[in-house]
Amino acid sequence: MRSLPLLFGWFAAASAAYNGSDPLLSKQILPAFKPPQVFRNTNLVRNVNLEKGYPRETINIVVENIADKPQDEYYVPFTSSVIARVGGFEVRDKKEPEKPAFEAEIVEFDPASQSSVEFYRIKLPQPLKPSEQQTLSISYSVLSVLEPLPAYIEQRDKQYVQYAFSAYAPSAYTTQKQKTKLKFPTADVTDYTTLPSPNADKTEDPTRQGTSFTYGPYEDIPAGVEEPVSVRYEFTKPLTHAKRLERDVEVSHWGGNVAVEERYWLTNRGAQLKNHFSRVQWQMTMYANPPTSALRELRMPLDAGSVDAYFTDDIGNVSTSRFRTTDRSSQLDIRPRYPVFGGWNYSFRVGWNGDLGRYLRKLATGDGFALKVPFLEGPKSAEGLEYERVEVRVVLPEGAKNVRFETTVPLIANETALHRTFMDTVGRTTLKLTAVNLNDEWRGRDLIVTYDYPYFEGFRKPLTITAAFVAVFAAWWALGLVDTSIGARQKVQA
Ligand SMILES: *[C@@H]1O[C@H](CO)[C@@H](O)[C@H](O)[C@H]1NC(C)=O
Ligand SMILES: *[C@@H]1O[C@H](CO)[C@@H](O)[C@H](O)[C@H]1NC(C)=O
Ligand SMILES: *[C@@H]1O[C@H](CO)[C@@H](O)[C@H](O)[C@H]1NC(C)=O
Ligand SMILES: *[C@@H]1O[C@H](CO)[C@@H](O)[C@H](O)[C@H]1NC(C)=O
Repeated sequence: MRSLPLLFGWFAAASAAYNGSDPLLSKQILPAFKPPQVFRNTNLVRNVNLEKGYPRETINIVVENIADKPQDEYYVPFTSSVIARVGGFEVRDKKEPEKPAFEAEIVEFDPASQSSVEFYRIKLPQPLKPSEQQTLSISYSVLSVLEPLPAYIEQRDKQYVQYAFSAYAPSAYTTQKQKTKLKFPTADVTDYTTLPSPNADKTEDPTRQGTSFTYGPYEDIPAGVEEPVSVRYEFTKPLTHAKRLERDVEVSHWGGNVAVEERYWLTNRGAQLKNHFSRVQWQMTMYANPPTSALRELRMPLDAGSVDAYFTDDIGNVSTSRFRTTDRSSQLDIRPRYPVFGGWNYSFRVGWNGDLGRYLRKLATGDGFALKVPFLEGPKSAEGLEYERVEVRVVLPEGAKNVRFETTVPLIANETALHRTFMDTVGRTTLKLTAVNLNDEWRGRDLIVTYDYPYFEGFRKPLTITAAFVAVFAAWWALGLVDTSIGARQKVQA
């Protein structure tokens, strides 16, 4: 058992101080403080799901206000190195899960205090009265924490990964009763830490049941205390990590079209090959479709009615893709040029078009429009996909004004700017949203963008193009030739 430097000498730890230039997270900086001890966790159950390539944790806690005044700020501590990888942090009332998630944001000490602990601060929608209880359900995932062990394997070997964590849930308050349950992808768990001191039930610790393990229950664990443990288990699937995803959604009122383009920079965090890749061996085994730690294929379900899908990588068009579309569903299956083994990268772009009518509504009042698109689409697979950084750009028509947006995806930045392309006169209004540490479970969360687009603006593009045609014909008349390249570009841009 060791304590986080949190409440006991937290001012002394200097190891992973925030260096102020890390662009990954938006944080509110507080002067050195420690969370007031106004709550007690009377019961806590933490579920750690290891079925995907990133751990997903859900902590259900009964919290009690032990102070003599109502309280509405609850803190969850993480070390700086972990908090930079925590994503999709969401808190709800366990008893009313359909209500909107609570406000939660990262706060940290003044860098001068050199603490290695940072906090999520959760704002309870209603202050909790003295000695009242509320059940919080806190969920998040942690990126880039599963480590292949061994780090080098043969092409056909099984892959094992190790996960190190604390058997006690992260807490800034005393926890009266808690346990941590783990769910593995298979029962092949080769190594795990056995804790010597008997837990509250006087059973072995952890207890095993098929693909589930339970650490605890433990009683009366003080705030900020950790109990480091690790587990190692089979995971013969790629650890697909998107270092970056750029997703552009371009709206054309004139063309009645929504054009989506996505650019991915992927890497496989899995075990690296001990020897050279053998394509002969790969082709001999692949017909049987065995499990592999290489990334072979990505399946992307798209909105129904999507058309004109394409897939290109650094070399050019990739023909090994398949696109099927019906009125009810569309699916783009892409196969990288080579199986992407551990340590290898693959970057590519995909795109498609959709009918604007499916995404856009005219608002009843004035010149207002509302666009509803998924914040994230992307591949879907059993092992999942983690995104270190996602930038979504929504390119609205020229002249769109009063842009507002709404999404339940936690963002670190938003900005509205003008984006000029060929044939634009004033430039298109572009909304750029940035999120970090997402995963495929966030697929399909809505992004709603509202804007005003005066009726007159709809004519701006045709007028511009008419003017351009007049110029071309004038040149043709003058020089006796037609500049076909401009003609071709007009077609693309229109
Ligand atoms: C902070 O981190 C960034 C990127 O990791 C690095 O470029 C910079 O030099 C660091 N600054 C300090 C003061 O350590
Ligand atoms: C790529 O494919 C698209 C559509 O399939 C085609 O129009 C385009 O010319 C191709 N580009 C190259 C460089 O082959
Ligand atoms: C993958 O990309 C990273 C940088 O993002 C680079 O350091 C690494 O060398 C690349 N791996 C390979 C095998 O090219
Ligand atoms: C957009 O960013 C501004 C700061 O640039 C911030 O005040 C605002 O809350 C953000 N809006 C949303 C919806 O995140």
